Amino acid sequence: MFPCSHGQNASATLREPDPLTPLPTMPRIAIIPGDGIGPEVIHEAVRVLECIADIHSLDIRLREFDMGAARYLREGVTITDDEFRDISTEYDAILLGALGDPRVPDNVHARDILLGFRFRLDLFVNYRPCVPLDPSLCALKHVTGPIHLEIFRENTEGLYVNAGETKNEGTPDEVAVQEDLNTRKGVERILRAAFEHAVSRGGGPVTMVDKANAMPIAGSLWRRTFEDVAADYPGIERNTMYVDAMAMDLVRRPERYSVIVTCNLFGDILSDLAAELTGGLGLAPSANVHPGRHALFEPVHGSAPDIAGRGVANPMGAIRCVALLLDHFGWGEQAAAVESTVQAAFRDGAITPDMGGTMSTSEVGDRICESLVAR
Ligand code: NAD
Ligand code: IPM
Ligand code: MN
Repeated sequence: MFPCSHGQNASATLREPDPLTPLPTMPRIAIIPGDGIGPEVIHEAVRVLECIADIHSLDIRLREFDMGAARYLREGVTITDDEFRDISTEYDAILLGALGDPRVPDNVHARDILLGFRFRLDLFVNYRPCVPLDPSLCALKHVTGPIHLEIFRENTEGLYVNAGETKNEGTPDEVAVQEDLNTRKGVERILRAAFEHAVSRGGGPVTMVDKANAMPIAGSLWRRTFEDVAADYPGIERNTMYVDAMAMDLVRRPERYSVIVTCNLFGDILSDLAAELTGGLGLAPSANVHPGRHALFEPVHGSAPDIAGRGVANPMGAIRCVALLLDHFGWGEQAAAVESTVQAAFRDGAITPDMGGTMSTSEVGDRICESLVAR
């Protein structure tokens, strides 16, 4: 079970835990395929979810929501307050494909929908595991040991709060201020989630990544809080890194790192890097979680307009989100079955062109569903 899941461990990730709602016996999942390759990969993920639910008689209710660029362009609507209320109260989790479309250059719909859920549901843990499906998948030939990276990205603060202002727009004297908001409570809860996870894995190291040399105001808060939280976990090895050095060292010796905890923006950047190092962006899942309350699962990749509509997108990141989702609801055995079936399918050659294969998105989905049934 990953520690920011809905299960009994969830309270351990917060200093003042929310009252835990019991695990739903019949989880209701809102499906938001979104834009570009989002619908293509989510179609396969939903098939896998339905398949495993069928095999194990899991009572899971799914409903699809039409949200994304097409609707925005058609109706001028991103997400209504009623839809947000409906999804946040009537659904236990969200499975989302991707949002982003060249026809919406300001990305307003992605901010309203995706960042809207992250912020309005206070999904403060963005958990991004980068674990190769197969050791051969590491992009770096000089790596000496197995790579197992798990990024804990702060998900409700930082530069993403979109505070600030533009002055003198369109003039030579234009000034754009984008504010970086960091609160003690916000920083502490993501650090604690990372340490709790290290404990549940049987050890660290936990590496906190910042840019305290150039941005000492936020850096000071993160570093002091890191020391305070770390003091509660004397058995866990810990260290800090500047983000530029971390980007370099992730390429040089990624096998040294394990749990990485960082702010919203650095987590976004490092998770694409870590995904590519461990096989490819198309393989990486993520869970946006407020433990004990709500969760949104999405592949780390975007809508990939360059390959959308061709049926060649890699669905494995989205399918691995199904494993995270099952785990979240306490179905660890079924989650492990999905993850190991994806691994076996890859080893068996169920590979899309991004990884050098020739299979289509749906052929990979077919193979994984067939293997699940045959287990
Ligand atoms: P991207 O992740 O969509 O694509 C980057 C590269 O990776 C492209 O070459 C793409 O073809 C490839 N790729 C990504 N996922 C793949 C998959 N499953 N299979 C095969 N190849 C894959 O990043 P981008 O091009 O910077 O962004 C495109 C749009 O997606 C933008 O509008 C961006 O804002 C949005 N975006 C959305 C999310 C999200 O909804 N969670 C995440 C990232 C980017
Ligand atoms: C991600 C994406 C989003 C982010 C974009 C689409 C706003 O890149 O989920 O990684 O920056 O968080
Ligand atoms: Mn990203």
